[in-house]
Amino acid sequence: MAFVIGVIKLKIETSGSFIRIQDGDTAHSGRVEIYSKGDWHPICSYGFDARAANIVCGMLGINNTGIAKAYTSSVYGHGTGTLLTSYIRCQGSETNLMDCSVSFDTCSQKEAAGVQCDSTRIRLVNGPTNTSGRVEILHGGTWGTICGSSSLDARSVKVMCRMLGIDNPNAFGYANAWYGEGETFPILRSSYDVGLNCDAKTPIRLIDGGTELSGRLEILRNGYWGTVGSTGFDKHDLQVVCRMLGVAITSNSFFMTNGYYGQGTGDVLAKDLTCQGGEVDIGLCGGNWWPRTVPGDHSQDVGVNCDGVIPMRINGDSNSTGLVEVLHNGDYGTVCSTNFDRLDLIVVCRMLGFDNIPKSAYWYVTPGIGLGEIVVSGLACNGIESGIGHCGGTWPAVTSCTHDNDVYVNCAGVPETVRLVDGKTNYSGRVEFYHVGEWGTICDSSFDRPDAVVICRILGFPHPERAVAHRSAHFGAAQSHVPIVMTELHCNGLEKTLGQCNPTWTSSSCSHTQDIGVDCCPNCQAAIIG
Ligand SMILES: *[C@@H]1O[C@H](CO)[C@@H](O)[C@H](O)[C@H]1NC(C)=O
Ligand SMILES: *[C@@H]1O[C@H](CO)[C@@H](O)[C@H](O)[C@H]1NC(C)=O
Ligand SMILES: *[C@@H]1O[C@H](CO)[C@@H](O)[C@H](O)[C@H]1NC(C)=O
Ligand SMILES: *[C@@H]1O[C@H](CO)[C@@H](O)[C@H](O)[C@H]1NC(C)=O
Repeated sequence: MAFVIGVIKLKIETSGSFIRIQDGDTAHSGRVEIYSKGDWHPICSYGFDARAANIVCGMLGINNTGIAKAYTSSVYGHGTGTLLTSYIRCQGSETNLMDCSVSFDTCSQKEAAGVQCDSTRIRLVNGPTNTSGRVEILHGGTWGTICGSSSLDARSVKVMCRMLGIDNPNAFGYANAWYGEGETFPILRSSYDVGLNCDAKTPIRLIDGGTELSGRLEILRNGYWGTVGSTGFDKHDLQVVCRMLGVAITSNSFFMTNGYYGQGTGDVLAKDLTCQGGEVDIGLCGGNWWPRTVPGDHSQDVGVNCDGVIPMRINGDSNSTGLVEVLHNGDYGTVCSTNFDRLDLIVVCRMLGFDNIPKSAYWYVTPGIGLGEIVVSGLACNGIESGIGHCGGTWPAVTSCTHDNDVYVNCAGVPETVRLVDGKTNYSGRVEFYHVGEWGTICDSSFDRPDAVVICRILGFPHPERAVAHRSAHFGAAQSHVPIVMTELHCNGLEKTLGQCNPTWTSSSCSHTQDIGVDCCPNCQAAIIG
């Protein structure tokens, strides 16, 4: 290419038919050609810039409003004629291309100049909605993609969405082929293709929670649902997810880490989310988005519960008494009794509709009647929570819990039923306690007089304080098929139920030779009471 300094005017009459554009995507784009010596010739793109392009468009009578673009490298092909110019430089004030500084020499056919007098045509491809997808630009007759390993900046996003007729301040962009890889020029199957979400509506759903507003968080990408890792997930992230589902979070809303609502399939699409809380779409939140995640590791899938409802039911004789069952992964499972205490009972009962449980409400451990998964262990409520989802604990339960440790509650606090058997009088005998449908005995480990006083009070004797405690199967041992339901009573003598005496609801280390007995009226004569 030779540079010719100074202005050499073309000695050709100029008119509308002297210049044309060919092979464009639209009527207003194409390869620039000039008529000379009986033939049309492309011109060289060296020096051909937006100023020159605007002049060309003006000469063609196209109202280009100053947005005309110049193209190099024969994007609209090179035509048939030889290239007429080798260099062209316009000031921008010219109205005729030939008033620009032009040099004539050789120029490669690969360098034919093109113009686009109207705005760039873009489209969104492969998005879940009409207003989101991979950005494709019509360029030289083919749709191409834009490479970006980081997402588009806010201004580009705004401009492109506006080109598509969507003026949304929340529009945002994606990098790394979020909407799949394009297969066209100029980038072949780029795993970096940028995408746009002009309506800021990322499809999300909650799965396997048992209610519409709870479950494993899933995001739709490229036709497949993927999950979100729970690392760094916090209340602000929860707030955004629930807002997307149409609800504001309350103090009941919560989230569960590490696959509580089951492990998903497909890709982990985001982790370490850093939402501020006010975003209208999760895609507006920072974090490590796919592919900056560990693709197949679903052990940390996050679950959210916007309304705070964990489906729970009581499986027993009445709506207040029975085995506590919690819905998890589509099935009801049980609660392990490790560290279960009265504060946990208060919350469980509250969830079952019993707000101010009476002091006589209590809980048991029921051996061997529960079924299914053991959903939580080590429940650690402080008593004010609206649901067990807010309590500490291990979800799902530690593997050392078995169905011999399942929690059984009595929220209504119906009186405990105790009877005396095998005594010589109606007011003395071996103590039997009605527990989960059958009568069982109590082991004498740490059994003392205050415990006996409470038993006699439950039995309704007028002077329970006179009770005498008997250990070591004083009134005979129960038969071997009779269960031993509790041990280690710690009554101070004032309690109204044994449940208030913090017993241990298990007895595996006791035998019936340790069955307790009481005498509720040691100074009475059998005839008086009997
Ligand atoms: C060019 O188009 C713009 C926008 O449509 C319009 O405002 C302007 O009047 C047009 N100019 C001419 C010369 O047609
Ligand atoms: C998306 O585009 C299709 C085809 O043009 C149209 O039928 C459909 O109604 C559009 N959907 C929305 C939500 O705009
Ligand atoms: C439990 O059942 C009783 C009797 O059917 C009913 O009166 C009460 O409202 C129920 N309570 C709850 C919390 O469901
Ligand atoms: C006391 O025992 C006698 C038999 O020893 C029985 O007839 C009587 O009904 C019993 N009384 C009560 C209140 O259980």
